[in-house]
Amino acid sequence: MYEKFADRERKFIFLEETESTNNDIKAMLRGTEEPLFAVVCAQRQAGGRGRLGRNFFSPAGGLYFSVSLPLAGNEKNIPFITLLAGLCVCKAIEELTGAKTELKWPNDIYFNSKKLGGILCELVSGRNITAVVGIGINLDVERVSVPSELTGKMTSFTMEGIPVPDKKVFIGKITEKLDDFIYENGELYKVRDVTVTAIRESSCSIGKRVKYTVGDTVTEGIITNILKTGAAEITLFDGTVKEIFCGEITQ
Ligand code: BTN
Repeated sequence: MYEKFADRERKFIFLEETESTNNDIKAMLRGTEEPLFAVVCAQRQAGGRGRLGRNFFSPAGGLYFSVSLPLAGNEKNIPFITLLAGLCVCKAIEELTGAKTELKWPNDIYFNSKKLGGILCELVSGRNITAVVGIGINLDVERVSVPSELTGKMTSFTMEGIPVPDKKVFIGKITEKLDDFIYENGELYKVRDVTVTAIRESSCSIGKRVKYTVGDTVTEGIITNILKTGAAEITLFDGTVKEIFCGEITQ
């Protein structure tokens, strides 16, 4: 169990191409028992991964990086950390460009009702537990290069006319925010009301009618809240209230 994280220093690795930056951090974790504070960034990924085993389209021009966050031994709140990372991304984008992006529960960054980026948060256990937070943002990606199945669903800074920030500055800002939230005053984070409120304010899911799919079962309702656990609260049309942590949401 770690008590203090105050003196941490991050190791930054920049690659031209890799399979997946999340995989790279996981490989680094396999080689050490010590807390790992690293960032791996690649100009493109040959096998970028998204949630639910999907591919993440990762051509040159996008921002793809992963951050390792060593956690205390019993920490398992990946849904909340995913939302927290999303909040850090939205705040960094607003500070660097003025653009207001939104969080689509559970892990997407949205702009103009289209996907601008996504977060893949994975837990690696060992002597300690580490969260691997993978962030992908469509920066300088032109419409012509987008595969037909993503047309109309995804967007990029270039397509939206948002100024494209310097990648190192962008990573630095997001990572700094993530560290500040996760290791508040050198202690491992607690879920604070103010952070949950900020996540709710950034959410484009609350109030939306959604279809929620797990396996072959599809349920319809309205997302009525995002909870401290990172779960979404769905109110079904018969008035039943459900808390969901995973599955597929179509809004
Ligand atoms: C999603 O859209 O479901 C999540 C996408 C997460 C993509 C990022 S890019 C950096 C890191 N490496 C990966 O393979 N995935 C994440």
